[in-house]
Order: sequence, then C-alpha cells, then structure tokens
Amino acid sequence: MRLAHHRVAPERRVPDLAEDARAGLLAPPRSMPPKYFYDERGSRLFEAICDTPEYYPTRAEAALLTDVSERVIADIRPAHVVELGSGNSHKTRHLFAACERLGIHPRYWPFEVSPQIMLDSAAALIADYDWLHVEAMSGDYTAGLGNLPLPGDGGRRLILFLGGTIGNFEPAQADAFLAEIVSLMAPGDALLLGLDRVKDVATLEAAYDDAAGYTAAFNKNLINVINRELGGDMPVAGYRHRAVFDRTLSRIEMRLVAEYAHRVRLEALGADFEIAAGEEILTEISRKFSQEAITGLLGRAGLRQTAHYPYGDDQYSLVLAVRD
Ligand code: SAH
Ligand code: TRP
Repeated sequence: MRLAHHRVAPERRVPDLAEDARAGLLAPPRSMPPKYFYDERGSRLFEAICDTPEYYPTRAEAALLTDVSERVIADIRPAHVVELGSGNSHKTRHLFAACERLGIHPRYWPFEVSPQIMLDSAAALIADYDWLHVEAMSGDYTAGLGNLPLPGDGGRRLILFLGGTIGNFEPAQADAFLAEIVSLMAPGDALLLGLDRVKDVATLEAAYDDAAGYTAAFNKNLINVINRELGGDMPVAGYRHRAVFDRTLSRIEMRLVAEYAHRVRLEALGADFEIAAGEEILTEISRKFSQEAITGLLGRAGLRQTAHYPYGDDQYSLVLAVRD
C-alpha cells in the first residue's frame, strides 16, 4: 500500500468545541476558532470558494507553483514533503509534477484536521503518481507538531504551508507556530510559505464575500457545526456573513452578525445566551502581509529567505526559506 493514515496525538491539550464555545460564545466579545469550519461540508464549501472569481489567492498561488515548482524541487531535492493544512492538495500537484520530471521521488506527509478530504485526495494522488507514497496525518496543528510521525532518516524535508493560512493566526501565534515548524527542520531543510499581501480594500473584501455566496455559506456552516455537535438551536437564517478589512491590524475579519435579538440554547453546555440584533461573532481573521511583515516573521523564526516569488504586482507571495 502506498497510502497510510496516521492519527496524530495532540502534543498538548487544546480546548474542545464545547470549551471553545463556552469561552467564546456565551458573552461578548464573541469569537470562535476557525478549525471548526472544516467538517465535510465546510471542506467542500472551501473548495468552491477557491474556484470563485473573487478569491484570487488560490489562482495566484497555483500560477506561482506552476512557474517555480521545478526550481524549488531541483534546489531542495526533498526526501519528504510535509504539508500543513493540505486540504485537497490540488496546488501541491505542481510540485509532484516537477518531482516526476526531475526524477526526484519524495514521500508526501499531508496533515489535516479534515481527514476525509485528505484521504480522498491522497487516493487520487497515488493513482496519478506511481512512485508516490502518502503518509496522511490527521490531527490539529494547533495542538503541536511534535508528535508528527516523521522519520528521523536524515532525508531532506520540504515543509509546505500554503494558502495564506499563516495569516489565520494572530501575530504571536504565528510566531509560535513558525517556531514549531522550525523545530521540525534540520539545517538544509526548507519551508515554502504562501502569504497574502496588503492590497486595495475592495479586492480584499470581495475575496471574502463572493457574489455566489459560497463564503457566506462557509461562514454560516459554523452554526450547523455548533448546533449538531453541541445540541444548539442557533437559527442559521438569523445570521448574516460580513467580511471587513481592518487597516490598522492589516487583516480581514470574518463575522457572523445576528439579524435580530434572540436566545440560544446549547444543550451540551447546559447553557443559554442572549444575542442582540447587530451583535457579531468573530469567526476568522486573515492577515495580509507587507514586505516588512514577511521579513520580520521569517527573521524572528530564525529562517533565511532564499527566494521570494511574488505574483503580479505583489498581490500574493510564495517565500522559500531555509534553516541554516
Ligand atoms: N492548503 C490548502 C487549504 C487551505 S485552507 C489550500 O491552500 O488551498 C486551510 C486548511 O487547513 C483546510 O484544509 C483545513 O481543514 C486545515 N486546517 C484548519 N485548521 C487546522 C488545524 N487546526 N489543524 C490541521 N489542519 C487545519
Ligand atoms: N486561509 C484562507 C484565507 O485566509 C481561509 C479562508 C478563505 C477563509 N476564505 C475564507 C476562512 C472564508 C473563513 C472564511 O484566505
């Protein structure tokens, strides 16, 4: 078998949905962590978002990978490709195509909180690349990377963190997460990091509020998850999706806005809360990076940038960095 599935035990305890809901929902300011979006339906909705005309990051990153994959693979010659938050691995295929052309045959280690999409994609990948072995890892990357079952065989590692997902962390969390990534790296190993860039507000806000409504449906799917998992009665139609760019914090904020005042019962918590008309729940942040912010992020992690591949007029960036 060229496909294995590993369940990754948390390295440290992280709150579960009930605890996050208790801490985040019962009183303002209300917020929820983003990992709960990605149940099976949420993962499919995210794929639909990536295909909308407004959501440019996927196309930008795919175009960059089309151009640079061969250079990256030839330069790093990885024995292992590790991908954090791999989703459907569609863009990663550009790297495997380059591997095939170059006759370099790494093992693939995707890590996902949404196992089904990862396993479906892994099955398709091994069908398309007859040399490829996939070691699928399911778990929560916010619970640490120290338990990933990566072999200590000294083979060069290329770590992928794509899609601008680093922007979904608060600044201090992003630094801590990059430090954990660096602790997976030996000298010569590399990180390929995708970051979305600061740009005009209209483009940014449209990317997080597409006209067909997939992003709104994705955001509201969190309500379904809460209702299903916590015995809740939040009215899906009682909330609307809102995406706003905060210039000061340089981030998109995704919110669910209550359309009218109502009371919510969360059976699993044995708790109720009242939410007023217009009150908001912050469900996701997506930070947008300046050149200085990228330099600072890598510098604090002790990483040395070896290549910067910008898309268009600095619309999006792929950065290749090594640990010396
Ligand atoms: N890399 C893909 C997907 C990006 S969306 C792309 O660029 O298109 C973010 C991905 O990270 C989703 O697939 C989601 O399921 C996964 N994810 C979110 N939170 C996670 C967590 N805490 N641990 C592991 N994976 C997570
Ligand atoms: N990593 C993606 C981003 O920040 C996640 C994302 C895209 C997202 N669209 C979204 C998260 C809409 C929540 C809602 O661009």
